[in-house]
Amino acid sequence: MNAPAVKLTDISKTFGDNVAVHPIDLEIGTNEFFSILGPSGCGKTTLMRMITGFETPTTGTVQLDGKVVNTLPTRKRDLNMLFQSYALFPHLSVAENIAFELRVRKLPKAEIAQKVKEGLALVQLEHLADRKPDQLSGGQRQRVALARAVVGRPAVVLLDEPLGALDQKLRKEMQVELKRMQREVGITFIYVTHDQEEALTMSDRIAVMSAGEVQQIGKPTEIYDRPQNRFVAAFIGNCNLIPVTVGGSGRSAVVEGYGEVPAQMDGTLADGTGATLAVRPERVHLAAADEPGAIRTRLVTPVFLGDSWRFIVALGSGEQQLTIDVPSGQEGALGAGAPGDDVWLRWSPEDARLLTE
Ligand SMILES: Nc1ncnc2c1ncn2[C@@H]1O[C@H](COP(=O)(O)OP(=O)(O)O)[C@@H](O)[C@H]1O
Ligand SMILES: [Mg+2]
Repeated sequence: MNAPAVKLTDISKTFGDNVAVHPIDLEIGTNEFFSILGPSGCGKTTLMRMITGFETPTTGTVQLDGKVVNTLPTRKRDLNMLFQSYALFPHLSVAENIAFELRVRKLPKAEIAQKVKEGLALVQLEHLADRKPDQLSGGQRQRVALARAVVGRPAVVLLDEPLGALDQKLRKEMQVELKRMQREVGITFIYVTHDQEEALTMSDRIAVMSAGEVQQIGKPTEIYDRPQNRFVAAFIGNCNLIPVTVGGSGRSAVVEGYGEVPAQMDGTLADGTGATLAVRPERVHLAAADEPGAIRTRLVTPVFLGDSWRFIVALGSGEQQLTIDVPSGQEGALGAGAPGDDVWLRWSPEDARLLTE
């Protein structure tokens, strides 16, 4: 079996008395698109800088392709980087910018020409090869920077919030592009972002970080469908988080003032234990009033969003509110509902996770 592209063992970083990254173990596979996702200040860049060698770990080891590289300077590590504030050389053309590093490495001229051609094709900028950076749009400049980062075929490319400066529409386009390019070149990508949608869209796996600690590692669907704790449930997508107590040894949740509702958890837990029920708005469905097991709530506010309706409903004594999203056309009579109307709901136990952290 091949060694992982990147292996971090007990890696941590402390600045003075501020622990930026608590000890982390992490393996990133060859050709994986791996994202590090978390709010600003949670330690993403610091973690990345320890992989690149810009930062010395306080504890632990960094391995690239099975070799410990802790004392190896950045330029000797088989990796490249792309930041938000990438700098292209203003006096060099697009093609010369892409060729720059290959020239420094003194590759044969013919090989450089071939690689630059491939790089331009990869980012679809063949027609702009002779332009200078100031004759390009922001998105085009970012493509040049990306071509430059991958053209030497490093084993790993680290990207730190590279789309941060682009507007929303361009970001979305670039997300799709980036994923396509990564597949095409077959390079391991480590992608740092605070944008959960971006991470879900592009990644093979995601590490969710908070306050210097990895909260969960998994495929986008695992992180979304089976969050391990409240932080992950709340940070990724929208989620109803309802304080409950455990029922049925973890097979149901007891909502105060209402009673039992379907739930599920990994493992079992004693009834009566305090927990949080995490259920996503789009996993709650409208039910008929006479449907067995339907959950009775009362309408608080209906909101029309165009492609969907968002209903806020009150559960039990009314202390608990739930947000539910229903695709347009499935709202039935509720679209014309008034506050206080009965709303009957159902959800599958696997969509209602009991969390204890
Ligand atoms: N060179 C440094 N000196 C002191 N503190 C730092 C340094 N770099 C980062 N930090 C601190 O480490 C924490 C994590 O920062 P960072 O890794 O940049 O987070 P992120 O990239 O997730 O926004 C923050 O509290 C930040 O202030
Ligand atoms: Mg950062």
